[in-house]
Amino acid sequence: MEKKNIDWANLGFKYIETDKRYVSYCKDGTWDDGAMVDDANVSINESAGVLQYSQTCFEGLKAYTTVDGRVVTFRPDLNAQRMYETAERLLMPPFPIERFIDALDQLVQANLAYVPPYGTGATLYIRPFLFGSGPVIGVAPAPEYTFRMFSTPVGPYFKGGVRPLKLQISSYDRAAPRGTGHIKAGLNYAMSLYPGYDAKQKGFDENMYLDASTRTFVEETGGANFIFVTKDNKVVTPKSNTILPSITRRSLMYVAKEYLHLETEEREVPVSELSEFVEGGLCGTAAVLSPIGSITTENGVITMPSGMEKMGPITQKLYDTLTGIQMGRIEAPKGWIHTI
Ligand code: PLP
Ligand code: COI
Repeated sequence: MEKKNIDWANLGFKYIETDKRYVSYCKDGTWDDGAMVDDANVSINESAGVLQYSQTCFEGLKAYTTVDGRVVTFRPDLNAQRMYETAERLLMPPFPIERFIDALDQLVQANLAYVPPYGTGATLYIRPFLFGSGPVIGVAPAPEYTFRMFSTPVGPYFKGGVRPLKLQISSYDRAAPRGTGHIKAGLNYAMSLYPGYDAKQKGFDENMYLDASTRTFVEETGGANFIFVTKDNKVVTPKSNTILPSITRRSLMYVAKEYLHLETEEREVPVSELSEFVEGGLCGTAAVLSPIGSITTENGVITMPSGMEKMGPITQKLYDTLTGIQMGRIEAPKGWIHTI
């Protein structure tokens, strides 16, 4: 397969149009057969549910070139499942799980020339999305829906690659109790734009959000979950029903336990405990595992003992093992790697 002439090693996390995308339409509750198309633009009615009432959701996953030259995706069944559940919460017709996997295979196959070669540090980011494309004017679910999936080659999510990040505890909340924090609704991201701007203006890389009801527990960032390491090498991740159940986080916790033989805990993490951790990281498809350098709180700055120069040792092991599994250097648990 001849690859596109792209400077893979210097890609950022930006949209680059690729050749083909997948589209399927739903009318009267029935999905059509779906097809690969060339047009990257979407034409919809001015009163489409997505435009008026933000009836939209998305997913994010990646295709990797492995050390032995295969092209694979990582646990795509979990993205399909999460999108299914998100759709139900937004009263959209869920896209069937097996069809999601089939669309993904077709999409990656059609854009193989854009899958970054092994060893470049880049990957093909895949963005499935589902939105109300039929017109509504009263607040109601749209009468028609569009499911699309496109791909774009990406490098690191944070500028400067893997480096310890400066976080602030946001004075804004991300998700309401009993709201939509646990699903991947577009509206969650629209409302995080202003807090994200606030963080950047103040010189931070990202926000750390707290639970909205008590503001005493750590939740997540706008686009990644957290993991922390205790002094006695336990890997801890916040438990909350208002955060997105990250597939990367679930995978890292498994890796910590089964590959690195570390103790793991999914539990509430009080803000007051932050100063006791020795390492921390943001985990997600885009963020992979990005180390935390410091956290600015109301009561001062907490600098992680792992410092502002490099990842802590446990974070590094988790990162190496997870990316090793994704790139085929380390044997994967059954069902994690889907070869295209
Ligand atoms: N949390 C939020 C709010 C996200 O948008 C994402 C990205 O998908 C994640 C966490 C990480 O989830 P995953 O590891 O499944 O990509
Ligand atoms: C991802 O990690 O895939 C995300 O969706 C996070 C962000 C880019 C919104």
